[in-house]
Amino acid sequence: MVTAHDPAQALAPDWLAVPDDANDLADLVWPASARRDDDGVLVVGGMRATDLVERFGTPVLLLDEQDVRDRAERTERAFRAATARHGGEARVYYAGKAFLTSDVVRWMLAAGLNVDVCSRGELETALAAGAPADRIGFHGNNKSATELERAIAAGVGTIIVDSEIEIERIGAIAERLGARQRVLVRVRSGVHADTHEFLATAHEDQKFGFSLDEAERAVARIRQLASIEFVGLHCHIGSQIFGVDGFRESASRVLALHERLLAGGDIPLLNLGGGFGIAYTRADDPAPIEELADGIVDAVAEQCAARGIAVPTLAFEPGRSIVGPAGVTLYEVGTTKPVAVETPTGSAERLYVSVDGGMSDNVRPALYGAQYSARLASRRGDGAPALVRVVGMHCESGDVVVDHEFLPGDVAPGDLVAVASTGAYSAAMSSNYNHVPRPPVVAVRDGEARVILRGETIDDLLARDTGLGRDA
Ligand code: LLP
Repeated sequence: MVTAHDPAQALAPDWLAVPDDANDLADLVWPASARRDDDGVLVVGGMRATDLVERFGTPVLLLDEQDVRDRAERTERAFRAATARHGGEARVYYAGKAFLTSDVVRWMLAAGLNVDVCSRGELETALAAGAPADRIGFHGNNKSATELERAIAAGVGTIIVDSEIEIERIGAIAERLGARQRVLVRVRSGVHADTHEFLATAHEDQKFGFSLDEAERAVARIRQLASIEFVGLHCHIGSQIFGVDGFRESASRVLALHERLLAGGDIPLLNLGGGFGIAYTRADDPAPIEELADGIVDAVAEQCAARGIAVPTLAFEPGRSIVGPAGVTLYEVGTTKPVAVETPTGSAERLYVSVDGGMSDNVRPALYGAQYSARLASRRGDGAPALVRVVGMHCESGDVVVDHEFLPGDVAPGDLVAVASTGAYSAAMSSNYNHVPRPPVVAVRDGEARVILRGETIDDLLARDTGLGRDA
C-alpha cells in the first residue's frame, strides 16, 4: 500500500485513496455484469470491450441492459413492498430525461414502470415506443400550447402543472377537446437536497412549481374547472441524494398542505419525485433502494397517521438510479502527458491522459464538477498506480472526463479507457461542440450487442449546414 506521503497521492483529493490494484472494478461503481476476462479485458454484458470497439469504434456508450431492467424492477418492487406494508400503493415513473430511447421505454414498461417525460421529444419517443398514454406523466415549467394539446389529445395520464398560466391553458385545451385532464400540482417545499445534506428554507428561489401558499390557490382554481381533475401534489427536491432526511422534511411540509386541501375533495396521489443517488466513485455510498423506499414511505405513513389522514398512492420518479450505474463509456487514449504541478510541499506530477471524446459526450464534469471513475479496458496495466486526469479532445481546458483517478502508470496511446456510471445524463446531455459527432449507444446483454441509438457521422453534421451545396 502506498502511503499518504507518496508523491502519487500529493495531488489526489482526500476521498481518493491509492488503490492496491488500479485494475480492480469496485462494486456499485461498475455495471452488475462488469468483470475482466482471462486476458484482462473488460467484459460488460458478456461482451469484450476490445470486440465492441472493433465493431462500433470509440467513443461508445455501453448500457448493461440486464442491469437497467433489474434496477427498474427492483425499484418498482421496493416501493410496492414499502407501501403495501401500510396498505397503500406505489407508482414508479422512470424519469426519461436521464436517458430515453424506444428500447428504454419498453424495458421500463416491461418492468412495470410508467414514464415521466418533460418535452415534446420525450413525449413522442414514449408514445412511438408504445407506452400507453395513461402511463405517462408530463412535466415542464414552460410546456407550449402545442405540446399540451398533443399530450391531452393523446390521453396522457397526468400533467404536472407548473404555473397559473398553465392551468388556464390546460383548462381551455381540454375543454375544446372534450377531455377531462388529470393534473398534479408541483410545489416547492422549500427543501432542496443534494447528496448527504439538505437545505430547508421557507421559500425556494427557483423556477419550478408553486410555493406551498400559492399552491392552495392553484388547486382551488383547478377545482373550479370542469375540464381538469386535481389528483395530487408533486414535489421533487433534488438529485444525487443519499439519505431519507430531505424527503422526510419535504413530505412533512407537503402533507400539511395535502391535509388542508382534503377539505375540498379527495386527493388520491402524492408524487415525491426522484433523485436517488448512485456511486460515481468508491467514495459514494448510496443506500440500497429498498432502504430508501422503506425510509421514505414509513415517514409518509407516520405523518399521515399523525394527521389522521389516509396514505395516498405514492408516486416516485427515479432516473439516474435506474440507468446511471449501467452505463460505461469506452474511449481510446490518444496521448499522455506528465504535467508538473506545484504543491505546498514541493512539485508533484499529474499524468494527463487524452481520449477521443469529452465534454460533448459527457458534459457533467465540466458543468457540475462531477467526479467519475476510470479503468483500462483493453488490458490489465502493470505500472504502479499513477494519478491521472482523463481529458477530452475539445478545445477547452475545462474539458475533463475524469478529474481524479489512479490508473496503471503504463497507460499509453492505443489503450482503451472505460469510464463508469455514464448511463444517466451523459448521452442525454450530449452536444456537437467543436463539430464532434455524438457516439452510438449500444445495449449489451448475454454476449450480444445492439445499437439502440446510432452514432452521428460527419455527414450528419454537414447536412444541417444549409450553406453547403448552395452557390455562394
Ligand atoms: N423528477 C423531476 C421532476 C426531475 O426534475 C428530475 C430531475 C427527476 C425526476 C429525476 O431525477 P434523478 O432521479 O435522475 O436524479 N442533469 C443533472 C440532473 C438534473 C436533474 C433534473 N431533474 C445531472 O446530470 O446531474
